Amino acid sequence: MRDRSGSDDLPRSFQTSPPTAAGWETGPAMDDARPCPVPPAPQPGEPLEGAALLRSVAPGHDAVLDAALAELETSGRATDPLAAGAALRAAGIAPERAAAALSQAELRERARIKLGDRVDAMLLTRAGVEQATRWQVAALHAAVLRAAGVEQVTDVGCGLGADTHALAAAGLNVTGIEADEQTAAAAAHNLAGLGRVVHDEADATLARPEGVDPARWGLWFDPARRTGVADATGRARRVSSPQDLRPSLDLVTTLAQRAALTGCKVGPGWRHADIPPGAHAQWVSHAGDLVEAVLWMGPALRPQDDPAPVSPTVPRAGTRSATRLGTDGSVLAHADSSQLPAEGHRVLGSQDEPGTFLVEPDPALSQAGLLGVALGPGDAELGPGVGWGTSDSPAGSAWTRTHRIVELLAPRPKAIRQWARRTEVGDLVVRKHGSTVDPATVRKGVRTTGTRRAILLLTRVGDRQLALEIAPPILSA
Ligand SMILES: C[S@@+](CC[C@H](N)C(=O)[O-])C[C@H]1O[C@@H](n2cnc3c(N)ncnc32)[C@H](O)[C@@H]1O
Repeated sequence: MRDRSGSDDLPRSFQTSPPTAAGWETGPAMDDARPCPVPPAPQPGEPLEGAALLRSVAPGHDAVLDAALAELETSGRATDPLAAGAALRAAGIAPERAAAALSQAELRERARIKLGDRVDAMLLTRAGVEQATRWQVAALHAAVLRAAGVEQVTDVGCGLGADTHALAAAGLNVTGIEADEQTAAAAAHNLAGLGRVVHDEADATLARPEGVDPARWGLWFDPARRTGVADATGRARRVSSPQDLRPSLDLVTTLAQRAALTGCKVGPGWRHADIPPGAHAQWVSHAGDLVEAVLWMGPALRPQDDPAPVSPTVPRAGTRSATRLGTDGSVLAHADSSQLPAEGHRVLGSQDEPGTFLVEPDPALSQAGLLGVALGPGDAELGPGVGWGTSDSPAGSAWTRTHRIVELLAPRPKAIRQWARRTEVGDLVVRKHGSTVDPATVRKGVRTTGTRRAILLLTRVGDRQLALEIAPPILSA
């Protein structure tokens, strides 16, 4: 095992908290008696590879490379890979380093929206960028652990360190553990001056840092969720099943018994039946995108009937919640299942007709099964488990937007073709929620030769498959 404590050579803007001084209890996972194999250092003239190659192209590592990359930017040649590679080699950069540096530049642009401008100082890997948490969402995770009184957090499977960075920025002492060597090297660079990174495969022997009170220790997990099974587009399929998490949910729940609060990020499609007993599950949307669910566990959870108002940073044992974050990460709305009306809400059956308006909730609310929190007295859910509602009132809320229902149609190609011709549709948008009908089938043969734009929603009322023509939203909260 190597301890890659960070150096202090990053720009000051990146150094949001002092270096940590974490000492670890010895135990097999943390014990030098079972070290990870250290690859031999390359001989002079030998090509660099793996983590050594990655470290050699870190911003600030080599002034010649940094200057050559800056020159490419200002001359506009950075966008032409062939010209950029030739220019770096002409500046004396070895081909493998030139390729690695250009790959970093490309990854930085891909990661900028997710990770912010700090990408300019970071080392990245392709898989790490795909799996990293958006920085505005990572800040919420950190706020929850901090609000529970946690002071020291172990981020198990820290990846490139997006969550770890947010934890450190919230003033917590952090240690990231990462099993993949290149990713650990990148994380060590990214967290330099902020926390410790350990390259190791964490297991059930993971011990609490020495001298840390269990009531002040938190665990964060963001398990890898790729199965490695490629879908039709060649990308690994996203899953949200407990068996496919790495580290496993078993390891998460075992270790969670030792800390005050443990958070484990899972896919937003996580089934309610798979929430561990007594845990809290929090669904989060950011800028309108449903991004994750987090399972919170441990003695620091508040009781379900806590008299304090519900809060996005204070999870309750045995409840579900939804948190809607704005683009800048501010909390726009939060709801908890303890707020659901005791008598439940009305759900339409197959013989019922929807009201005048469609109620479209934020996806976090719908996925958390909390539509009932946002429905008014006369409103109803469209069908069992649909998660969208209907109302005779146009009023939206911080959770919902309403659309006038223009027409109800059978979701059959012939009916849709006739409707498109009769109402002079020129541009057709087909949306789908809670329906088993394939949008491609419905669109088949529809001629859009008219002048108006129409939105068709494939959904169901009770168990009846329907297509609703809906107007654009009346109120966007
Ligand atoms: C989804 S990524 C973490 C992303 C990170 N939260 C971020 O925002 O950058 C999960 C990481 O866990 C690592 N991992 C999986 N099992 C592990 C284990 N048992 N011990 C340490 N790391 C592990 C993987 O190599 C991967 O980099």
